[in-house]
Amino acid sequence: MDRVDFFDDLASHWDADEVADIDERLQRVVSLSRISEGESVLDVGTGTGILIPHLLGTLGPSGRIIAIDISSEMIEKAKAKRFPPNVRFLLASIENSSLPNEYFDRIFCNAVYPHFENKQRALSELKRLLRSGGTLIISHPIGRERVNSIHRESSSIVAEDRVPSAAKMRNILEEAGFERAYVIDEPEFYFAHALKPRANRI
Ligand SMILES: C[S@@+](CC[C@H](N)C(=O)[O-])C[C@H]1O[C@@H](n2cnc3c(N)ncnc32)[C@H](O)[C@@H]1O
Repeated sequence: MDRVDFFDDLASHWDADEVADIDERLQRVVSLSRISEGESVLDVGTGTGILIPHLLGTLGPSGRIIAIDISSEMIEKAKAKRFPPNVRFLLASIENSSLPNEYFDRIFCNAVYPHFENKQRALSELKRLLRSGGTLIISHPIGRERVNSIHRESSSIVAEDRVPSAAKMRNILEEAGFERAYVIDEPEFYFAHALKPRANRI
């Protein structure tokens, strides 16, 4: 079994297994991200698309969402929710997406960062895809410790996948070339936010 099989197997019961107040937690992620109407957003590791309704609530019909995932089963579940045509799905890894340079105003990685196999490559791709001054969000709405413990007790495929501490995450983001990184690391909520530096104007 590989990572794709692992997430394919989770797809049928992913929504039912969510914590009862997941919508409030996702809404907090979106509020903290400060997205605005009409923006272009990438939802990385969209899964069954649970973040999408919250994004659409702010982006409105003029916004655009591309939702990417490695699991075809997850994407099928998300597509079955019949989102409007400004939401498009892509079956690919963020590490090799072939999406165009500087296309997105904001990129959300909700409950997915620890699962990237090559994190340096993933972050470099995320930076390539963001417009200058664009925002990267890495969130775990149930909190770092809870995610890490779920992974530890799960399949060997994800057992070592860890959400980093706030200090570690700030370093990771700065080393990857992002700036103004800040991290909220509460017992039941984790939210990291950083900017792609603006291109120098001569
Ligand atoms: C823990 S689930 C979270 C799904 C969704 N974001 C949510 O919050 O419910 C992680 C998702 O990320 C996807 N994923 C893992 N590695 C990925 C990668 N390199 N590129 C894109 N998606 C990935 C998995 O297939 C899975 O659907």
